[in-house]
Amino acid sequence: MRYLVIAAAVMAILAGVIFSTAGKKMMHATSSEVAVMELPEPNSAGAGLFKQYCAQCHGLPGIDTHTAADWPRAVERMMANISASGKQMPSDGERDLIVNYLVRHAK
Ligand code: HEC
Repeated sequence: MRYLVIAAAVMAILAGVIFSTAGKKMMHATSSEVAVMELPEPNSAGAGLFKQYCAQCHGLPGIDTHTAADWPRAVERMMANISASGKQMPSDGERDLIVNYLVRHAK
């Protein structure tokens, strides 16, 4: 009987672990978003600014969602989204660092 109780407790703990891991997986970035750890040049100014400014409204977008030719225009559109929203706006210099970073690592 005592073993049964212990076995039940172990099962309950295991179930908890499995559920909490599954929950975390569901919180994980969708395919068009990247986990912060996977950023190229993670310690560069561009990566830092990209993380700081570009995840304020949505998950950090995947760098491969635009080509090098398209990123400047995409970021320009985001500048309009940001200024309309009252979120933290990068300075022109910071925006250039973000654009250069994205262009450098685009597909
Ligand atoms: C003020 C909130 C806000 C911030 C900050 C923001 N975005 Fe967005 N972003 C949006 C909204 C709203 C959409 C969906 C509508 C649209 O595409 O404009 C979007 C969509 C996107 C998309 C998918 C659509 C597309 O054009 O491919 C990308 C990529 C993107 N954002 C990149 C960025 C980058 C890079 C930054 C940082 C410079 C950024 N976003 C910062 C609001 C924001």
